Amino acid sequence: MKISVIGTGYVGLVSGICLAEKGHQVICVDQLSTKIDQINQGISPIYERGLNELLTKNIHRNLSATTDLNAAIQHSDISLIAVGTPFNEETQAIDLQYIEAVSQAIGGCLRHKSSYHLVVVKSTVVPGTTDEVVLPALEQSSGKQAGQDFGVGMNPEFLREGNAVEDFMSPDRIVFGGMDKKSTDLLFELYSVFKGVDKIATNNKTAEMIKYASNSLLATLISFSNEIANLCVAIGGIDVTEVTGAMHLDKRISPILATGERITPHVTTYLEAGCGFGGSCFPKDVKALIAYGEKAATPMPLLDAVMTINAQQPYQLIKLLKKHFPELANLKVALLGLAFKPDTDDVRESPTLPIAQTLIESQAQIKLFDPIFKHLPDFLSQMNITLCQSLEDVITDVDAILLITRWPIFEQLPELLAKLPNPPLVIDGRRMLNKNTISRYEGIGLGKS
Ligand code: UGA
Repeated sequence: MKISVIGTGYVGLVSGICLAEKGHQVICVDQLSTKIDQINQGISPIYERGLNELLTKNIHRNLSATTDLNAAIQHSDISLIAVGTPFNEETQAIDLQYIEAVSQAIGGCLRHKSSYHLVVVKSTVVPGTTDEVVLPALEQSSGKQAGQDFGVGMNPEFLREGNAVEDFMSPDRIVFGGMDKKSTDLLFELYSVFKGVDKIATNNKTAEMIKYASNSLLATLISFSNEIANLCVAIGGIDVTEVTGAMHLDKRISPILATGERITPHVTTYLEAGCGFGGSCFPKDVKALIAYGEKAATPMPLLDAVMTINAQQPYQLIKLLKKHFPELANLKVALLGLAFKPDTDDVRESPTLPIAQTLIESQAQIKLFDPIFKHLPDFLSQMNITLCQSLEDVITDVDAILLITRWPIFEQLPELLAKLPNPPLVIDGRRMLNKNTISRYEGIGLGKS
């Protein structure tokens, strides 16, 4: 099928390249000509494992990129909208300005198109947006009628940053909504190349809700684990890793097969204590759903608590640090990790940020190491942080180490510390190290007797 993908951010680009790899004819559209030039040269503007290889393989074969929206609409049967939907802190609601603008623009192009076209929202949007914002904007600017001249659908993505290509090519489910049967039929056809995958066809609002509910559930599991962890510390004598480890063995969470073998689902890793979730999705989506609930006169106290717990969680590391060093001024602290999770260079909503901010305000001296960063991102370059290029460097001559991102390389820490004459205190924000291998150890959820 002929597809145009509007927006070449991480969702749009991954979707466009992967759909081309699956055999569709794809045109990627973006208003930034520098991005389009890069894509046409076979260079991905973002890093995602495996993406560049697929781009080079497909560009100028099944795949092209352009800034010309009208040409893309005229030469495709389906358009996927994949523009940003940030959370606006001022209005405390999802910001739909890019969705609205692109819907208007697509409608303008449809005015000059005689054949049927399907417009599908791929961006994460609150329930009702596709039917109540996108559809009317398309009708208004095209002068045409939805359901007759064009269709409207909604197709959320479930891509994890760092695993996006793998998640797209081998999905666990494909969810799509449509305003009518014609719209969903076309989406069935689009995704027929994904054989043997569960496909859920529903209405647009439900598809929108499935995305929010899925992310909110995972965020809830994380905050739940952190709330239990903090109580373990307050009570003392309980290590949360023993508690969550035993919880994972509930056969409703990790089923036991007839062979006696146990299946440990990935979801158990969200049922582990840490210093909080970050990234561009969980915080934004949970906040957007809460705001949406309020608008619908349905407060969401559970999700409110999920966000409150998460906002406080990075400070648990500071609390543990202060237990050993009540005075933080001039304390030499090593921060391990800046990315919000491993295998990405995304620092949005990373727990490292509030931790670094607090330490700077307390006049501590900060060194930082993250294996993916050779330089500090611009917005941090004015801060008084020394970026180190190796794990050995960052842990030398410090009073305390705060482990924040679960990068596998940090597993080398016990071995490296053992070589130091006077090893610093280690505060494990991800409980990824064996507490018995480190002489001075504190961890999230480790209630000492
Ligand atoms: C998340 C969802 O997992 C995707 O399904 C969804 O498509 C995406 O949001 C989105 O809405 O676009 P992502 O933010 O890339 O994807 O990251 P995750 O890998 O799920 O990590 C989110 C947070 O959960 C991180 O802060 C991470 O530390 C934590 N996490 C992640 C865990 O606690 N355990 C894990 O095993 C993985």
